[in-house]
Parts: sequence; C-alpha cells; structure tokens
Amino acid sequence: LARIEIDLSQIAEDKHMTYKWRGKPLFVWHRTEESIKQVRSIPLSILRDPQEDAARVKDPKWLVVIGVCTHLGCVPISHQGDFGGYYCPCHGSHFDISGRARKGPAPTNLEVPEYTIVGDTLTVG
Ligand code: FES
Repeated sequence: LARIEIDLSQIAEDKHMTYKWRGKPLFVWHRTEESIKQVRSIPLSILRDPQEDAARVKDPKWLVVIGVCTHLGCVPISHQGDFGGYYCPCHGSHFDISGRARKGPAPTNLEVPEYTIVGDTLTVG
C-alpha cells in the first residue's frame, strides 16, 4: 500500500504499534508526558545526528518513524535499550524515544516519513 491510515484513538498511552508500509515496518508510539519531557531535555550537543525532538514529530504525543535500523537495516525493538526508546539486536544500536541514534553503530536517526495527523487519523504516504 502506498498510503496507510491509522486510527490513533485505538492506541493507548505508551503503546507501540508496528504497521507495514511500502514494504517496511512503520512504527507508531504513543508517548507519555514523562517521556516527552525526558527526551526534550537532552542537549543537542551530545547527539551524533543532532535533531530537535520537536523537528521529528508533528504532535509531541506521537512518534512516527520507519522501523529500519540505520546501521544495516534490522528492525529495532521498542521499550528497549539504554535510552528508553529502541534497541537494535543485530549489532547493538540504541535509540531514544525520538528515534535518535544514541549509542552503537547506527550513524543516523531513524527516518521520519511524510505524514499528517488530522483529528485521530494518521495518514502516512
Ligand atoms: Fe541495527 Fe546493525 S543493523 S545495529
């Protein structure tokens, strides 16, 4: 499917969902207030691929990223790793809850696709 519509009202707080989009995993994470606050307190200067969390999400509650590790393409696991975001078991890359590369061999952040959120509907593609 070139385009996917997801009903966000079905995803409880802190729940992480994986969809299939253009042959790749699409991750959607309903972030908690606490995790938003935490991830936004991290100084850009310590990031290897510096990007503000605010520039990576359209609504702070929703992280939408492509679930492909930027090292060699494995699928990272949510709620894992040293930064409360994702862990890639293939070679040990850690990402924060903004999908930003924090530790291990992944050189760049998880990719953010083009999407819109209107009401409770997330449309990707
Ligand atoms: Fe994820 Fe290598 S593919 S760490």
